[in-house]
Amino acid sequence: MKTAFEYNVCLPFVKCSGRLTRGEANDDTEGTLLSRVALFAQQHSTTRMPAQALRGSPPLYVRTGTIRRASSCPSSWRKTNYWPHAQRNVRGAKVNTIITPAGGYFTNEEIEQALEKHKPVLFFLTHGESSSGVAHPIDGIGDLCLKHNCLFLVDSVASLGGSPLYMDKQGIDILYTGSQKALNSPPGTAPISFSERACNKMFNRKTKPVSYLLDMSWLANYWGCDGKPTRAYHHTGPVSGFFSLRESLAILAEMGLENSWRRHKEVAEHLHKGLEDLGLKLFVQDKNVRLPTVTTIVVPSGYDWKEIVAYVMKHHQIEISGGLGPSAGMVLRVGLMGCNSTKANADMVLAALGDALKCCHKSKV
Ligand SMILES: Cc1ncc(COP(=O)(O)O)c(C=O)c1O
Repeated sequence: MKTAFEYNVCLPFVKCSGRLTRGEANDDTEGTLLSRVALFAQQHSTTRMPAQALRGSPPLYVRTGTIRRASSCPSSWRKTNYWPHAQRNVRGAKVNTIITPAGGYFTNEEIEQALEKHKPVLFFLTHGESSSGVAHPIDGIGDLCLKHNCLFLVDSVASLGGSPLYMDKQGIDILYTGSQKALNSPPGTAPISFSERACNKMFNRKTKPVSYLLDMSWLANYWGCDGKPTRAYHHTGPVSGFFSLRESLAILAEMGLENSWRRHKEVAEHLHKGLEDLGLKLFVQDKNVRLPTVTTIVVPSGYDWKEIVAYVMKHHQIEISGGLGPSAGMVLRVGLMGCNSTKANADMVLAALGDALKCCHKSKV
């Protein structure tokens, strides 16, 4: 039986770069206060790079994407597909939604109409919608949010490092990601960054945050992001996770962000062509908005998606997954992110799926 780290292509598990699994990232991980402080400082500068963000607050870190979403929600937001929807029940949030069919995206005109109608304080969009495989266009939305006096929050958990995103240039006010996707670090650490506008709003809020855990002012102080001379303990940070994340960011910086974006795109296109050659259909019809990190494939007619997923795992030790939320039952999802985004891995997935199509049961109806 292989361990999660040895599987080749995974959505929920991360196959990390050898540099992380060999423990090179942990040379210095004593967890002492001193090493943590040095790490905080380095982390701030390295994490700005994949988001192309130099203005605003240095990124700080919370645990998992789910907590990040909750922590960055003042009182109103909008839905695209699954991930914003997953947060609708945040306590105290009045949520308005706009809906587009899974696999689609909103035009800027539709977004502006919604901003005019609902007058939100925050507009929430997922850049890499991993449930549907869409990389939502971002250009122009920051300007619309500025015009309508609302903050622009972007979830880049499934896209940062693998698909172009420019926090400053695109006017994103709050951007968060996860360590475990294209950054290829183990799950558990989650950078989040705030623009000056978002910092002003956050540091001058009149109401208390919904929980101690999500108190961004306190977390900003803990991370030294609020400009105050002293820092107060908030929680014990996952130090080993931070060292791994630092190493992942170093790997990305060495490769070059644009090279990483290019490689993800080329590998995704290679995979897409191979899938079409197998007679499979891609779920996202508009080629320009296909997410290079997560590919969604229409469940081939007559097949049971669960049987395909189980077959590929059992016979090829590759984990692909079914749909999520609005795409449940409709798609198969393949994640190729960070160091896993290679043509060789794409070919392994293609061989496995080709085999599954031959060997899984196909209904005659
Ligand atoms: C786009 C997106 N947002 C948020 C999350 C949630 O991240 P976490 O599992 O770290 O809470 C995921 C996880 O797959 C995701 O793909």
